[in-house]
Amino acid sequence: MYTLLKTDGKAKRGRLETVHGTIETPVFMNVGTAAAIKGAVSTEDLKVIGCQVQLTNTYHMHVRTGDRIVKQLGGLHRFMNWDRPILTDSGGFQVFSLAELRKIKEEGVYFASHLDGSKIFMGPEESMQIQSNLGSTIAMAFDECPPHPATKEYMQASVDRTTRWLDRCRVELDRLNGLEGTVNPRQMLFGINQGGTYEDIRIQHAKTLRDMDLDGYALGGLAVGESHEEMYRILDATVPLLPQDKPTYLMGVGTPANILEAVDRGVDFFDCVYPSRNGRHGHVYTNHGKMNMLNKQYELDEQPIEPGCGCPTCTHYSRAYIRHLLKAREMLGMRLCVLHNLYFYNRMMEEIRNAIDAGEFQAYKKEKLASMGRSN
Ligand code: GUN
Ligand code: ZN
Repeated sequence: MYTLLKTDGKAKRGRLETVHGTIETPVFMNVGTAAAIKGAVSTEDLKVIGCQVQLTNTYHMHVRTGDRIVKQLGGLHRFMNWDRPILTDSGGFQVFSLAELRKIKEEGVYFASHLDGSKIFMGPEESMQIQSNLGSTIAMAFDECPPHPATKEYMQASVDRTTRWLDRCRVELDRLNGLEGTVNPRQMLFGINQGGTYEDIRIQHAKTLRDMDLDGYALGGLAVGESHEEMYRILDATVPLLPQDKPTYLMGVGTPANILEAVDRGVDFFDCVYPSRNGRHGHVYTNHGKMNMLNKQYELDEQPIEPGCGCPTCTHYSRAYIRHLLKAREMLGMRLCVLHNLYFYNRMMEEIRNAIDAGEFQAYKKEKLASMGRSN
């Protein structure tokens, strides 16, 4: 159950209650693609850094170790020892970005596994079955994430097929939720709006989606190569058509600046690999912009990454030590940078929630963008 607690302009402050506990929004979902945050971050770490929701991928869990095995072990929550919400992405995006030898048909997608080339078929029913076996809190509909750019003809045909797939997802998930032995019989379903940068297709699709009985509404097919301005233009056109009293999720986005701009346009769920991926490369986020911890200027610097930061890294370790660890290729270097970055993102979301609660989101956004620099 989603409750819209407050609005500040178009920005939404919400609360989603789930069988795995409450999600306060706007929220950043920390990406654990294969049931782990890359960078040796444990579920205990995630609680310390304030993570509310983890995101895991249907495709990765299916090709290794297998969703049937996870189900036999009691589902993802028990498997990972994580009792808070988990959202699983449907495989739609990963099949298109990772798998080889794809063939898209009405029934679904035929492809070869990126691990060993074995042939796999995934359609809406298979995606729902895998997500049901995983027992995530929120399942994502099986969609096509069309390439950018795509012709208008291709886009329209793709979006129409994604809508038919969504109907099949709804029917299949209802069936699975009613079966005995289902890991999470109250699994929620979010639909995904597509249409690339074609406003008219996006709008028409958003109107179709809002008439369906869904627990949340995602925007997919963005941050796939179009400019930030184009993405904001699509958000301006699409988000107002989605139900305000349901969660709105911008998939795979983005930088702190992207998140601030999207919150300002009514989005309240986000996920992105940037904080963990950049952390693994020694790039860290601060309120004064990004830092490259490998830089020589930190060789003798005994300050924490960000003075005043409450994260486990900044509480205990210096820039000089972190630079040394990264230079020496010690795993701890990556881990400390990832922990700081995830803390930074989760903390920013908390600041955003507090700002909306206080009716001060515009002032907060302006100040944050000015101090960080817009490119972040
Ligand atoms: N993650 C980022 N973009 C997308 C998308 O368009 N579809 C899905 N399923 N996942 C995504
Ligand atoms: Zn820190």
